[in-house]
Parts: sequence; structure tokens; C-alpha cells
Amino acid sequence: MNKNIYIETYGCQMNVADSETVAAIMQSSNFTPVTKIGEADVVIINTCSVRDNAEQKIWHRLDFFKGLKRRKKHLKVGIIGCMAQRVADKLLEHEAVDFVAGPDAYRSLPELVNEADIEVNHINTYFDIEETYSGIVQYKNGENAISGFVPITRGCNNFCSYCIVPYTRGRERSSSYNDIINEVADLRDKGYKEITLLGQNVNSYYFEDDNKMVDFPTLIKMVAETAPEMRIRFTTSHPKDISDSLIEAIAQYDNICNHIHLPVQSGSNKVLKLMNRKYTREWYLERIEKIKSTIPNCGLSSDIFCGFSEETETEFQETLDLMNIVEYDSAFLFKYSVRPDTAASKTLVDDVSETEKVARLNRLIALQNQISLKKNKADIGKTLEVLIEGFSKRSKDFLFGRTQQNKVVVFPDANFKVGSFINVKITDASSATLKGIPKI
Ligand code: SAH
Ligand code: SF4
Ligand code: F3S
Repeated sequence: MNKNIYIETYGCQMNVADSETVAAIMQSSNFTPVTKIGEADVVIINTCSVRDNAEQKIWHRLDFFKGLKRRKKHLKVGIIGCMAQRVADKLLEHEAVDFVAGPDAYRSLPELVNEADIEVNHINTYFDIEETYSGIVQYKNGENAISGFVPITRGCNNFCSYCIVPYTRGRERSSSYNDIINEVADLRDKGYKEITLLGQNVNSYYFEDDNKMVDFPTLIKMVAETAPEMRIRFTTSHPKDISDSLIEAIAQYDNICNHIHLPVQSGSNKVLKLMNRKYTREWYLERIEKIKSTIPNCGLSSDIFCGFSEETETEFQETLDLMNIVEYDSAFLFKYSVRPDTAASKTLVDDVSETEKVARLNRLIALQNQISLKKNKADIGKTLEVLIEGFSKRSKDFLFGRTQQNKVVVFPDANFKVGSFINVKITDASSATLKGIPKI
């Protein structure tokens, strides 16, 4: 019997891409992906474990599903993603949960769903170092046929001391360049306008076969040449692996977006060492200089978190100081959350109080808002190329899109087509968005 499946996604872009892979796997086993929970026979929740509050959100959500299942007796609920890998047994004990699958076990989902009625083990959290979901064309529901994700690596080998990802996603592996190029060509032929190459650390991409040895700079050039009319983005880059040849490739190819997301985490050498980030503040700033001098007008963004073990006021100020030097266009800012089983949880003391963490986070946010505003105001008067993504949330008379630098631009609609490129003259700016007038 054909069943409807609804997938709910939390966490990072890897999870968004994985949910599309899962939808494709389910569809080829006679499940129909739907976009409304009310129509679902099976709900799959794709989860994140990166900070404790990400997991708390899921536990609350499960209480909602417990209620829904009382009204809808045949409904099955499964948990996948990083939290499924980390706390599979505990999840399965929850009344709402019927099956659990970790990030390398998605090919077994149809089986797990079908077995959810019988008394068998409903968990699959085996790691499979070979699994790259090769051969599966991701399911796209057509709502956003503009921008597509293409995962190029899975897992992570870096073991930053605070981070749960290497434990939930397993060891790093790269997809074959042939698979990647085929996926890019497929999205191009379907009319997509932008592609984001995804991985926890895309710079360490490496795939070798009898013909070629392909590293990330080589791969991104192949991608740029496969889809010369499309915008190419990539995320995330680890500062220790960002090479001159990648920076030069971005400068060389017009369709590789002038934007680099280069998470620094902290501006203090002592804290970076405790985090096991494997670079220094000086190394990082040198890489930023190289980017700024090679790629004119390159958008820069970062991830930063405060309150890590042993971070004093002085070290925190080194982070603020680094933010002032780099002047990121935007940044994701967090406060430290201890993750069970990580090196930091075992060897370091979580010694910054919650009150202090919150106070430091607020200072990070205030400074970044100020910098973003300054950077955005500097765009006033410029004419920038924008890829139109849709209607503004505030008004149907306005459209929004992004610049190559990944900045959001809002402008009045005059029958422009969503998914097309237009030039917009920037007339106003806030810390979050640019406003402008289309130039026709
Ligand atoms: N692979 C990416 C990051 C993945 S996690 C990278 O290395 O850049 C996304 C962000 O969450 C991290 O960059 C970090 O800033 C933050 N993060 C990870 N673990 C955290 C923790 N335990 N507490 C608070 N923030 C954390
Ligand atoms: Fe986590 Fe570090 Fe790997 Fe990023 S590089 S996923 S922060 S361990
Ligand atoms: Fe979260 Fe896993 Fe991504 S922990 S950030 S969903 S890799």
C-alpha cells in the first residue's frame, strides 16, 4: 500500500540535503513525500545534536507527536540524523517514537518503517564508512527550484574538542567527482540557478581513481565549468585547509561566488588550542589577508562561540578584537554548550558561568550588528547582481534575492521572474538587509 511521508528537518544544511536523499529513498519504495503533516502516514524527524538546546527542541516536539498519535492511531514516527545516532535507545523509549536511523543507515529506512509494526529491533545506527549515498538523486519538491545542495563529503575527522559531529556523523569520506558532476549537471538541466557544495570541511575533499586525483580546488573548477551559468557556493571551510589555489580559483571564475564562510570560533590562541582547532590567530588573519588581496569585494562570514572552558575576559576580548580586524559581513554566534563524550567534556571544566556566557554572547551580537551595518552601508550606491529567490515576507510588492557575497537585497517588483538574475542599485541598508532599485 502506498503511504504518505512527511519529513521535518532541524540542524545544518547537511541535514536539509540528507532529508532530500531520504525522500528519494522512500519514494523509490512506494512512499509519497507530502508537505503537510496532516496528510502523513509516516513522519520522519531529521535531528541535530550540536548544542543542548537543539536536542531539547526535539524532545518538546516529540511530546506534540505523542498527542497527535492518540488522534491518529496508524501514524508512525521515526527519528534520523545526529541525535538519532547519539541517543538512539533513549529516543526509542519515548512513546512517540517507532524507529530510529543514524546518518549512514538511510538506505534501510523503508525496511525500518515497514517493520515498525512488528516486534523487531527498530534501530539502525551502524556507521558505514563507504556510504556516500552514491546513485541516489535527491528528491526536490519543486518549491524552491532555484538553489540546490550537493553534498561532497560526509563525516568529519577534525575532532574539535567541543564538537559532537565526528561522533554522530562518523569518519570523513568524499563522494566520487563523477557522482558530483552528474548531480550538478542534473540540477543545471532542471533549471536550477545556484549550487552549494556541502561538507563539514569541504576543503579536505579528496577523491582518487585510476584517471585522476581530485582535490577541492580542482573539483570546484570542474563544477564551475560544468555549470557556467549557475552560481557556485560551498560551505564549510576549515581555516587550516583553505589553500591559495582555492582562493585563486574563486577569483578566477566569475560564477564561483565571492563569499567564504570561514568559522574562526575564537580569537585567542589559548582558546583555539584548547578547542583543538589546529591554527593560530595569526594564521587565520594571514588567510583573511590573502582572501582580501586576491578576491576584491569578497563576502566573509564566520561561526564564533563564547564561554568555552578557561575563556577569561581577556581572551574573550581577543575575539572581539579579531572581529573588528576581519569585519565579517555576518556571523553565526553561539555560547558554549558541553556535549557528552567529546574531549572537552572529559578533560576540561565548563567554568564560565551561564550568566557570563549570556553576557558575552550579547556583546558578540551587539558588535557584529554594528559591523554588519557598517559593511552593508558601504554597499549603498553600488550596483550588485542579485539572484531573485522570492517575495519579501513583509510585502508582496517586493522581491528579495542574494548578492554573490550572500547578502539579502529587497527591491520593488516589476514583473521580474523568481530565479532570474538582475542588477540592483543599493539605496539603503540595515544590519540585516540591503534595499535597492532594479536597474533595467
Ligand atoms: N564543520 C563546521 C561547523 C559545524 S557545527 C566547522 O567546522 O566550521 C556549526 C557551528 O556550531 C560551529 O562552527 C561552532 O561555532 C558551533 N558549535 C559546535 N559545537 C558547539 C558547542 N558544543 N557549543 C556551542 N557551539 C558549538
Ligand atoms: Fe565539528 Fe570541528 Fe568537524 Fe566542524 S571541523 S564539524 S567544528 S569537529
Ligand atoms: Fe547538527 Fe549534525 Fe549538522 S549535529 S549541525 S545536524 S552535522
